[in-house]
Amino acid sequence: MSMSYSPYSHVKVGAAGYTTDGRVVDGANVENASYGLTLCAECSLVSDLARQGGGRLAAVCVVAGDELPIAPCGRCRQLLYEHGGGGLLVDAGPEKPPRHLHELLPDAFGPDDLGSRASS
Ligand code: THU
Repeated sequence: MSMSYSPYSHVKVGAAGYTTDGRVVDGANVENASYGLTLCAECSLVSDLARQGGGRLAAVCVVAGDELPIAPCGRCRQLLYEHGGGGLLVDAGPEKPPRHLHELLPDAFGPDDLGSRASS
């Protein structure tokens, strides 16, 4: 959250992830004057994962400046699905158990759907 660039919404978002091989990746939201180009914290996290050489996400936590979880937006659910699949654990804060991503993004479209749907 402390690395967030959010002069427009003033919502400072931080994301942290744990990879299946035990690494930590993180990210923060980066806003833009043309609001629609804003990069969510999860985008930044996925970029960090790629820069670290890739791998699979096992668990993520996304929080705003109040240090409470915020629900990943729709686009970010798809981003997280690409790198963690439906079994990815998404932190829901101290009061609730973590949820699997397939609960947040049921019937997801993913990499496995591409080959089987391509026409020759
Ligand atoms: N935001 C994220 O970083 N992740 C989400 O999943 C939801 C929204 C950011 C984008 C924007 O900078 C701010 O929160 C307010 O929408």
